[in-house]
Amino acid sequence: MSDTTLFRGGTVVTAERSWRADVLIAGQKVVAVGDSLEAPIGARTIDVGGALVMPGGIDPHTHMELPFMGTVSKDDFYTGTAAAASGGTTMIIDFVIPAPGEPLLHALDVWRDRAAKAATDYSFHMAITWWSELVREEMARVVKQGVSSFKHFMAYKGAIMVDDATLVESFIRARDLGAICTVHAEHGDLVAHLQGELFARGITGPEAHPLSRPPEVEGEASNRALRIAEVIGVPLYVVHTSCSDAMDPIARAQSEGQCAFGEALIQHLVIDDSVYRSPDWNFAAHHVMSPPFRSREHQAALWRGLQCGTLSVVGTDHCVFDSAQKHAGHDDFRKIPNGTGGIEDRMSVLWHFGVGTGRLTPSEFVALTSTNAARIFNCAPQKGTLQVGSDADIVVWDPKRTRTISAKTQQQKNDFNVFEGLTVTGNAAITMSRGKILWQNDRLEAKQGWGQFVPRKPFADFTQALALRHAIAAPTAVARKEVHR
Ligand code: URP
Ligand code: ZN
Ligand code: ZN
Repeated sequence: MSDTTLFRGGTVVTAERSWRADVLIAGQKVVAVGDSLEAPIGARTIDVGGALVMPGGIDPHTHMELPFMGTVSKDDFYTGTAAAASGGTTMIIDFVIPAPGEPLLHALDVWRDRAAKAATDYSFHMAITWWSELVREEMARVVKQGVSSFKHFMAYKGAIMVDDATLVESFIRARDLGAICTVHAEHGDLVAHLQGELFARGITGPEAHPLSRPPEVEGEASNRALRIAEVIGVPLYVVHTSCSDAMDPIARAQSEGQCAFGEALIQHLVIDDSVYRSPDWNFAAHHVMSPPFRSREHQAALWRGLQCGTLSVVGTDHCVFDSAQKHAGHDDFRKIPNGTGGIEDRMSVLWHFGVGTGRLTPSEFVALTSTNAARIFNCAPQKGTLQVGSDADIVVWDPKRTRTISAKTQQQKNDFNVFEGLTVTGNAAITMSRGKILWQNDRLEAKQGWGQFVPRKPFADFTQALALRHAIAAPTAVARKEVHR
């Protein structure tokens, strides 16, 4: 079969605008976007019947087959990326997490081996879990290998948490390399203290989890990391911002001209903390993730953060454990592996609750699910947009298509889904990854190993990174006006 495809009759949506246009793919690239394009001889023509044609989603926060808290997250790079494709996501950025003391390059090799079976393209962030001269030296080699973002866990004491001294060293090194830093912002010492206190008082179930990680511990760490980044002069991306305590310092930093970004998770946007009060231990344990689910007031604040641009990305932190794995913490909430899933449902749930309710425009949806991540993590315009020369990572989005989410029918490899029973309107009809269709007619046509590593260059200098911050804020502001007209 020819490797040329014409998507005909759709509305193309990018982060900037939407317009009626056909999209022509040759091989793995977009070669034309325009009105009434001619199908070359032998091309496959797909009449999309008025559906939306958008850049494939990018989820910049995943943990496939991650060894964590005494077990390994269930989705591997194949099952996780195949599930992603069924929901319209065509690229993930997963976290390489070296064990403390492990050389970064060793961990990167391990992750490369694991990721070789991915169905969609992928990239990596590198976590800094310890500090030494070797780590400093290896950070440069990691960047040379196309990994230009570094992650820091400010929680998980006694495991992968780093202290302020390491944050300072690593932020300086990252700045000098043109890399962006990311943080999991929770005050790990405070969390450990609260966990111990709760357990000693006999509060041992999942209901203790959110009590041990109140919004204040997240707010403190978000503010601290932002201030450290400000003094050092490195761009900072705060992952899984779950509450206004953590988001407000991001807004302040941005208003003061700092190159700072916030990420929301689709789970935090629609699920609230009542899940921890369920009498069903298994149900509550399946919601143990960090930061935990929050009250509805915090949720409303997160939606506002998306609308005004304080939060630039909606990811998932996809890190799933099945019921047997969660059971490890049956007598001690501190041992319940932390993590939830969402990679398959991220885009449809955001469309349903965002665009479907008028909170977001379609262009904002594209920005939040794809374009902003590509810009922040420096793989645009290869990824995150539909323009001539971009990779043919495309989702044909049917805004009327309805689906009821269930663990029984999901592609994700787990016996639980935090969105169980939710009927969402707006779903992927076709997902294409570099010219290959992976999802069509509700059928997965994913292939192990189709996915390729996406190397990401560092920023040339801080000014370039700062300009990026403005590039991301601008389309959001314009798009809001559209919704109110
Ligand atoms: O609970 C979570 N979020 N698990 C995955 C690891 C992390 O903190 O991102
Ligand atoms: Zn985290
Ligand atoms: Zn994570």
